[in-house]
Amino acid sequence: MKVLIFKTAEEAKTHAARCLLKQVKQRPKSVLGLATGGTMEDVYAKLVSMTRKFSTKWSEVTTFNLDEYWGIPEDNPASYRTYMTHHLFSQIDINPERTYVPMSQGTDPGQAAAQFEAQILASGGIDLQLLGIGENGHIGFNEPTSSLASETRLKTLTESTRNANHRFFKTMDEVPRYALTVGIGTILKSAECLIVGTGSSKAAAVRSMIEGPVSAACPASALQMHKKVTVMLDEDAAQEL
Ligand code: GLP
Repeated sequence: MKVLIFKTAEEAKTHAARCLLKQVKQRPKSVLGLATGGTMEDVYAKLVSMTRKFSTKWSEVTTFNLDEYWGIPEDNPASYRTYMTHHLFSQIDINPERTYVPMSQGTDPGQAAAQFEAQILASGGIDLQLLGIGENGHIGFNEPTSSLASETRLKTLTESTRNANHRFFKTMDEVPRYALTVGIGTILKSAECLIVGTGSSKAAAVRSMIEGPVSAACPASALQMHKKVTVMLDEDAAQEL
């Protein structure tokens, strides 16, 4: 793992945006794995402004999002499809047909998950996977105790994650209890990973990810087994290292 510690969250996020832009510039047909959450809002804002500044073309890029809530309509204001459209897809010249986000509702989550995993395979696999980290060490929505070999599937969200994400919904009751998430095994198959963590609320999870044993208790620790991971932190998130 390459661990980069920046003075501020701003610098960590700018670096992440630069890495994404460089990937798209150098390989216009890249397959990117994308993440959501508060941290990524700033990363995408920076990426959009860099895209404009350097006239970067996204028309041949393919994206796969890590996860989506299950049990809400795709156009719910808090869905990850809505998030991605708002923060990134509507701001760049990406072909909407090349933007994959797991389904948000339906009768057969197992089938939806298998289809998503097959679509990733058919694309040739993820070249660069962007990740955030949950306060409990989750990546995507792979909550603690997730199998380190898991593929895309339905997961029950923990109370800790539902509480952390409550801010995106009007009431706690509206926060979904389930999500479809790409698996840890799927993430480990990507050619390269970038993980961004900022703020003191992530410090314990960051320590377990980098210095703890590889364990399903901290899903992000599985990244220790990946051969090309860059961790981008601010000083607050790095304070327990
Ligand atoms: C959600 C997403 C994760 C993300 C995490 C951290 O739970 N499913 O992919 O890493 O939030 O988000 P934030 O940046 O808001 O702390």
